Amino acid sequence: MCSKRIILFSLSAGLCFFIACSKDPLIPFDLGEKELKPVLPETPYSYGTDTLPSNFSSPPLSFINSIQNPITSAGATLGRVLFYDKKLSVNNTISCGSCHVQSKGFSDPNQFSVGFEGAITNRNSMAIINTRYSFRYFWDQRATYLEEQVLMPIENHIEMGMNLADLPSKLQLADYYPTLFENAFGSTEITIEKISIALSQFAHSLTSYRSKYDIGLQNGFVDYSSLESDGKTLFFSGTVNCNHCHTTENFYDTQAVNNGLDSIYADNGRGIITGDSADIAQFKVPTLRNIEMTAPYMHDGRFSTLDQVVEHYNSGIQQHPNLDDRLTTNGMTGGPPKQYFLTTYEKASLVAFLKTLTDQTFLTDVRFSDPFR
Ligand code: HEC
Ligand code: HEC
Repeated sequence: MCSKRIILFSLSAGLCFFIACSKDPLIPFDLGEKELKPVLPETPYSYGTDTLPSNFSSPPLSFINSIQNPITSAGATLGRVLFYDKKLSVNNTISCGSCHVQSKGFSDPNQFSVGFEGAITNRNSMAIINTRYSFRYFWDQRATYLEEQVLMPIENHIEMGMNLADLPSKLQLADYYPTLFENAFGSTEITIEKISIALSQFAHSLTSYRSKYDIGLQNGFVDYSSLESDGKTLFFSGTVNCNHCHTTENFYDTQAVNNGLDSIYADNGRGIITGDSADIAQFKVPTLRNIEMTAPYMHDGRFSTLDQVVEHYNSGIQQHPNLDDRLTTNGMTGGPPKQYFLTTYEKASLVAFLKTLTDQTFLTDVRFSDPFR
């Protein structure tokens, strides 16, 4: 009798839980979202205080726009609310955070992301990490500065479907915004420009610099296993030249290149934007920070594991007229693809090294988390 009651109780508790869960961000057309309000700390979190080491950046910081939009705590606090607010989509179903998940390095664990009407994006969502020290955003680098980039998904007909001109008056209806705008900009007036500035300040505050690798830079890598250490040597070696493209301590580049995924690409990347045949099938060189968490990989999310990525460079590079000269045997663009002939141990060591770039502090930092709960 007693145990039956317990079962009944847990069944109904389970049912309540199930109903509560129907607010899951991935279910389209959830109209309950209107009721959600952000819960913010009494003393605002501080943002923009994390300083990345200078060797994270190429080109020099002075070249980069984020200098013109310095992060303030009130600006990034507003940006955090905007980033996670589903009201930024036309039917209140999708926020930036739906496709950029903190525990996944602000990428999406799905190959393609689901937009506001259930349609899927044509590329894999990108990690948002250390953008503050970069420029030229998206896989095809079509947005030079983050301030222009952050408005594009809001208007995108697959992603959020919102008419930008309608957004300020829509947000004006939510009672929590006037104070947040006042704190950030000294006035309760909402404009598209302020939305862009605040969203960029939040995105730029997502800084990752506390991985095992960073600790290693300080203490001479004493905590590295021999596998990790051998992988590091290989990564930076002249022969397996990963660092020639994944450059600086941020392991990225601002120049798009072709890394030989296919001989004919379904998506021509940067070439679609510039119309220049030399840019066909060139894609942004993404940061490798937190790469363990940002699967699947490449612009089309074709690889689900790091082992597959390493095998691509080891034996799978395809000939292409724009194949980068660092991946050809004759050092010429479009030349015969390199093969590395790595042993099983060497491949495992590269993967082990890449995993030392995981930064748990970043992935769980409460300042970056969803306030709508
Ligand atoms: C429906 C899913 C989806 C939503 C919603 C979404 N994004 Fe994205 N995001 C993507 C995809 C997919 C890409 C890559 C698109 C491409 O390269 O063409 C991307 C790329 C980016 C990048 C480029 C990163 C880089 O290093 O170049 C940034 C920054 C970004 N998104 C920020 C945002 C912000 C801010 C919002 C909310 C205003 C947002 N995204 C909403 C899916 C989404
Ligand atoms: C010639 C420049 C170049 C070299 C050398 C290079 N990469 Fe890349 N890497 C890229 C580009 C470009 C992309 C994105 C390509 C795309 O999506 O079409 C990429 C993507 C990746 C990704 C997936 C990132 C993501 O967020 O999806 C990983 C992991 C990676 N590279 C690891 C490595 C490793 C390990 C090496 C050395 C064995 C290496 N790369 C060598 C240019 C390079």
